[in-house]
Amino acid sequence: MFNSRKLILSMKGINKSYPMGDDELQVLFDVNFEVYQKEFVAVLGPSGSGKSTLMNIIGCLDVASSGSYILNGQDISKLKDKELAAVRNQDIGFVFQNFQLLSRMSALDNVILPLIYARVSSKERKNRAMMLLNKVGLGDKMQNNPKQLSGGQQQRVAIARAMVTNPSIILADEPTGALDQATGAQIMELFKELNREGKTIIMITHDPKIARQAQRIVHILDGRIYSQDEYETLYNEDGAKRDDVEHEPTLRERRRRRTGNV
Ligand SMILES: Nc1ncnc2c1ncn2[C@@H]1O[C@H](COP(=O)(O)OP(=O)(O)OP(=O)(O)O)[C@@H](O)[C@H]1O
Ligand SMILES: [Mg+2]
Repeated sequence: MFNSRKLILSMKGINKSYPMGDDELQVLFDVNFEVYQKEFVAVLGPSGSGKSTLMNIIGCLDVASSGSYILNGQDISKLKDKELAAVRNQDIGFVFQNFQLLSRMSALDNVILPLIYARVSSKERKNRAMMLLNKVGLGDKMQNNPKQLSGGQQQRVAIARAMVTNPSIILADEPTGALDQATGAQIMELFKELNREGKTIIMITHDPKIARQAQRIVHILDGRIYSQDEYETLYNEDGAKRDDVEHEPTLRERRRRRTGNV
């Protein structure tokens, strides 16, 4: 279905380990992940499964231990820190669970900020930020500080900020995690609208109800990625493992085998 579309993100054989004393803890295992332009993909997994680790690599906030990562045709693993920062600024729009707005700045100035780093002229900065704030329904709150906004409104500011550089991917980590259900649903509607208009969105979540609102779900379990089909052959509807299939050892099982501890 997406064959005629442009491949925006391609990860092949991504592994990620963290040093742990003399040993190391492997958190991502042979991750293969592709995202095409205009897709809305949810990465769904329980706490500790590796979602934030994967998000940090996708967002160029961290680098993989091995494997290849191509973003917009560019080989990310070959970039230096400064080049990674440029990719982050130009290609990725981040939305976080806790909004991460600067509290001493108005909504408008928060949205303008990424454009200052991108060296856009001051007049165009203001125009673009105002346009985005209008789009997310905050035309009348531009001068408010984050503290003078509700959680849902703060997340709208954060989404406007993520959109303002016109990045190729919006990367959202638990974007409704700090919101009540109704407000979260409104934020999901906003993401769906942006996606219909052509934005590519990758959303990380532990909540199946939120994930189902995306076009495609990719599961992450113990640092491994599964497509929806793969997941359904391994797990029941309630998330319990089917007994009739062989499993890759879980992180805990692997650690137990290595250390002999139960
Ligand atoms: N900097 C680090 N050093 C060592 N271990 C880490 C580091 N960051 C994460 N881990 C480990 O990697 C595993 C995956 O963590 P990660 O934060 O990616 O999970 P997550 O899926 O985002 O969980 P949550 O839903 O709770 O946010 C965990 O076992 C965690 O303890
Ligand atoms: Mg996390």
